[in-house]
Order: sequence, then C-alpha cells, then structure tokens
Amino acid sequence: MSIADRVRTEIGAGGPAFPKLLPIVDPEGVPGEEFLEEVRGILASKQLTNGAYVRKFEEATAEYLGVAHCVAVSSCTAGLLLVLKALDLRGEVVLPSFTFHATAHAVVWNGLTPVFADCDAKTFCVAPEAAQAQVSSRTAAILAVHLFGNPAAIEELEEIAAELRIPLVFDAAHAFGSSSHGRHVGGFGTAEVFSFSPTKLVVAGEGGLVATRDARLAEKLRAARNYGDAGNYNPEVLGVNARMSEINAAMALHGLAGLDARIERRNEIRLRYEKKLRDVAGIRFQEVSEGGRSTFKDFSVIVDEKEFGHSRDWLVELLHRENIGARKYFSPPVHRQKLYSAMWDGRALPVTDVVSDGVVSLPIYSSLTDDSVDRVCEVIRQAQRLDNDK
Ligand SMILES: Cc1ncc(COP(=O)(O)O)c(C=O)c1O
Repeated sequence: MSIADRVRTEIGAGGPAFPKLLPIVDPEGVPGEEFLEEVRGILASKQLTNGAYVRKFEEATAEYLGVAHCVAVSSCTAGLLLVLKALDLRGEVVLPSFTFHATAHAVVWNGLTPVFADCDAKTFCVAPEAAQAQVSSRTAAILAVHLFGNPAAIEELEEIAAELRIPLVFDAAHAFGSSSHGRHVGGFGTAEVFSFSPTKLVVAGEGGLVATRDARLAEKLRAARNYGDAGNYNPEVLGVNARMSEINAAMALHGLAGLDARIERRNEIRLRYEKKLRDVAGIRFQEVSEGGRSTFKDFSVIVDEKEFGHSRDWLVELLHRENIGARKYFSPPVHRQKLYSAMWDGRALPVTDVVSDGVVSLPIYSSLTDDSVDRVCEVIRQAQRLDNDK
C-alpha cells in the first residue's frame, strides 16, 4: 500500500483527504458585487488616480494604526524602496535572511549592501543580538520584518538603532493589525511599510502603505511616489510612479471593515492547529513575541526531520497529494538564493538555516473551518506515524 493510501486508510478517506484543493490562502475582506457600483462611480468621476479614495484610505489607516502619517503606494516593495531612498542612505543595511526576498530587493535597488542577521529560533524574527553583531561603522540602517505578522523585537532594535543614530525601518508587509504591548504596528521605528496584495488580511488587489511619525519623511514620500514631483513639475527627489489607484484604494477600504474579527479568527485557528499538533513528535510552532498580537498572515510550523521521522519536503509532498495547499515560506532563505548568495558575507546564520529547512506553511484564513483544520492535523499526525518505507 502506498504511503498516501495508508494515510487515507487511517483517516478514513477513500481518496485524498480533501476531494478539492484546500488552498493555502483565501483573499480576505474583498468586496462582492456591490463594489461594482463604486467602480462605476470612480469611472464616471474620471478621477482614476490621485483622488478621494486614496486620501480616504490614508486617513482611515492613520486612524486605525494611530500614526500621524500614512502614504499609500502601489506595493510594499515600492514603499520599502522609496523609504530607503528618501532616507538618503549609503553603505550597509542589516536585515534578516529569513524573510521574503522583496525585503532585500529594496536594499539592493538602492545600491546599498545587504548584511544578513540570524533570526530568533522562537519568534522567527531577526534576533536583536544577531543584528547587533552585524552592525559596524558602515551600517546605514536596520530593516527588520514582522514575520508572518509576529511583531519583531521592537524595543531592542529601537535601542540598537538609537545608539547608532541610524534609521530603523520595519517591513510590516504581514502585519497590518498586529500590535505590540497594546500599540498597533505602524508607529514604531522610522517608518513601517505594509502590503495589501491578495495574500494579506487587507487586500487592495495590489497596494502598500508607509506609516511614519515623521512629517518630513511623509512629505518626501508623497513626492517620491509621484516621480519625485511634489506638484510643481520640478522634482527635488528621485522618484518613480508608485501611486495607488483609486480602484485599489476603494477595495482596500472595504478590507478595513471586519479586520479585527478576521485577526481574532486566525488566532483561534492557530490555537486549534497548535492544540491538535502539540503532541506530534518533531513539529514546533512560531512563538508570538512577548506582549504581541500577530495577524497570523501565515501559520508556519517547523519540522524536525529526526524527531518527525520524515523530511520536511516529504511532508509537503504528502500534503499536496492530499490536496492541502502547503508551502515553504520562506525556503531557501534569502542569503542562499541565487541572487543573494554572492552578496552574503559568509557569516553563518545557523538558526535561519534550521528554521528555513524545516518550515511548512499550512492553510490559514478566517473562512477556514475547524473541520478542515482538524483534517489537516490528522493527515500530519498519521504521516508522522508512518515508516519511511513504501
Ligand atoms: C516580508 C515581505 N515583504 C515585502 C513583500 C512585498 O509586498 P508587495 O507584494 O506588496 O510588494 C512581501 C510580499 O508578500 C513580503 O512577504
């Protein structure tokens, strides 16, 4: 009997555990047909960009986050790129390698050198002591990531940056709605940059947002997202077209409604996963930072091959055969990717390697049912019990 058949027998399924693909992501807060009325209104107004919806989205996000300045942009990547540009940096930027590669792209697009720091084994966010070990007189900024929505070690990183008098920027792509000690992510560091692409909890289609307490930086970013033109056709900063369109802003505004309930539901789901998988040998979980609330943009477990008895890749293949949309976020880590291996300074990143080699991201979204979570867990439980033989 094949391994898949044995798992199916154990969980009482004739075919795959899910007859249809259980996707890893289901875009959240996306409006239905009623949105077409708004689109018609936008088309009729002939104001397709630089209009009232973008302004409204910026006001609404500033209020939700409790941050003075929010600048909407076309993507988180563009926002990160422009923040680093607007800060006029030279030299090196310390950042984690256990992240999505767009974090590093923003550094390299600015002609800056990425210097990778190891992540924390529990939170998966950059370890402050590892960041500290990588700073030098060449360090121009620290770029940390609230990974999967888990707030990074904000206070410790702020201390390191303050000591060096350098900017601290957060890639908050996953973290719209996360908080640390009761304060929303968005108001920390020099600036924080969010994403509203379809895998996030607020979806604009494509979109991003820079939140900052720094009025001058916000002003610069408003020009930078508009080719560097502040409106007088006489650019003072180098910009690109990184504007958010009116239709994207209107869609994202819908996503703000019900966000807290979706975060709540995702936290319920991750607790359910943890409860059902806790006693499965060789599976461990991301720990939420002390005093933090995570959006759980992703729910990622780490498979310890020795204890689990099978490799991470074996498990992912098995999950796929059972129609479970599992992914490996983020593997390989950035410093081992083709583009970045030549830029890596060669300093070992042992925790990053272990976490990245073992990571499996499981389906999570607020519409995911408890039954589906239980079934995914049962597949993993049965898989662990199998010998490696066919
Ligand atoms: C950590 C991280 N940073 C940046 C990005 C890029 O976001 P965007 O697609 O909005 O450019 C992503 C995308 O998911 C991400 O995961």
